[in-house]
Amino acid sequence: MGGLDELALQYQPLLPENRTRGIGIVGAGEIVQAAHLPAYQKAGYRVVGIYDIDSAKARRVADMFQIRTVFDSLSALLEADEVEIVDIAVPATQVRSVVEAAVGRNKHILCQKPLAESYDEARAIAAICASGRGKAAVNQQMRWAPGIQASYDIIRRGWLGTVTQATIQVNVLTPWDHWPWMTGVKGMELLYHSIHYLDAIRYLVGDDPDYLFADGAKFPGQPWAADTRTTVMMHFPGELRALIHDNHNNWAPQNDWYATFRFEGTRGIVKGTNGALYDYPVGRGDTLSFLSQDVEPHTWITPQLAGRWFPDAFMGSMGELMRAIDEEREPQNSVQDNLKTLRMVFAAIRSIEEKRPVWLEELT
Ligand SMILES: NC(=O)c1ccc[n+]([C@@H]2O[C@H](COP(=O)([O-])OP(=O)(O)OC[C@H]3O[C@@H](n4cnc5c(N)ncnc54)[C@H](O)[C@@H]3O)[C@@H](O)[C@H]2O)c1
Repeated sequence: MGGLDELALQYQPLLPENRTRGIGIVGAGEIVQAAHLPAYQKAGYRVVGIYDIDSAKARRVADMFQIRTVFDSLSALLEADEVEIVDIAVPATQVRSVVEAAVGRNKHILCQKPLAESYDEARAIAAICASGRGKAAVNQQMRWAPGIQASYDIIRRGWLGTVTQATIQVNVLTPWDHWPWMTGVKGMELLYHSIHYLDAIRYLVGDDPDYLFADGAKFPGQPWAADTRTTVMMHFPGELRALIHDNHNNWAPQNDWYATFRFEGTRGIVKGTNGALYDYPVGRGDTLSFLSQDVEPHTWITPQLAGRWFPDAFMGSMGELMRAIDEEREPQNSVQDNLKTLRMVFAAIRSIEEKRPVWLEELT
């Protein structure tokens, strides 16, 4: 293997050349303030206006990020010709009505995850999107987290050989009371958190499992109805297997918490940490090391990764939609593609309920 240049991983989000497309944001909540807007400022994307049913909040956020227009209704935002992309960041129960209105005006759309809280609703939204002339994508942005994107590049170069195992493990303490609207939702942990890992694994291995088995549990005495510990075992065609083990009840001090990933193959291994889940709520950068028989057979290589899952990866999910518009192709994170991730989520929820492996083809 040659010099350092050949080892330089391509993991930074690819930004579109044309960054002049106007973005209209629907929803001025926590994630828009903490991630969408900081990432868009960093990337140089053009936000032309914002709307929230809480107009005072929309005004506050507009002031914080120097957004010129606060729209007083969704239709006012959609009537603005300058708004080419509608960036939807409202609770999942509200997504369908916003999508319907935006698709009716042939806008391009980026929806926050989860697209919906049931598979039927997600398919209905996908059908609405397919009826419009715009592109439709989902903000499943973990694909663009530095550690995941670097792993993707390593796999793409063939340095792992045939991928045999993907493992993501999380053991932290999550303050679910910050999101009271979420804690009654069936399958909350899978639908709102592990969905990122399910999507990242699908993306990295480039395939869908044929079946999966999931289990869930609560922590004794927890006030929330939903499971806060989940395990998902995925069986892919051939010898590939995957595991997500997610515990949100680690009561030990933070120096015991971990959020790791490990992808193994016949020729190499990549392993690392998901920095966003360390030093809560500040977070830190991702780490990554890889070993490959085809690079340096006996040496772990540990590149330094710049950027973070929050907010930097949000440049990637919006950037991919913009590049797809420019290149007249479907985005990698299209709504249609996201249905496959949601199929895994709802198969896992069914597996927990029915205490059995669930084949993905059962969800049609
Ligand atoms: N991709 C990620 O990593 C990530 C992280 C956090 C949240 N999210 C998703 O983003 C969405 C928003 O989460 P949040 O944490 O910002 O929630 P939030 O409650 O802080 O904000 C939601 C905002 O939407 C507004 N709203 C509700 N219905 C509306 C409607 N019909 N039209 C316009 N505005 C409306 C509310 O007034 C509120 O300001 C959720 O679906 C959540 O799952 C994704």
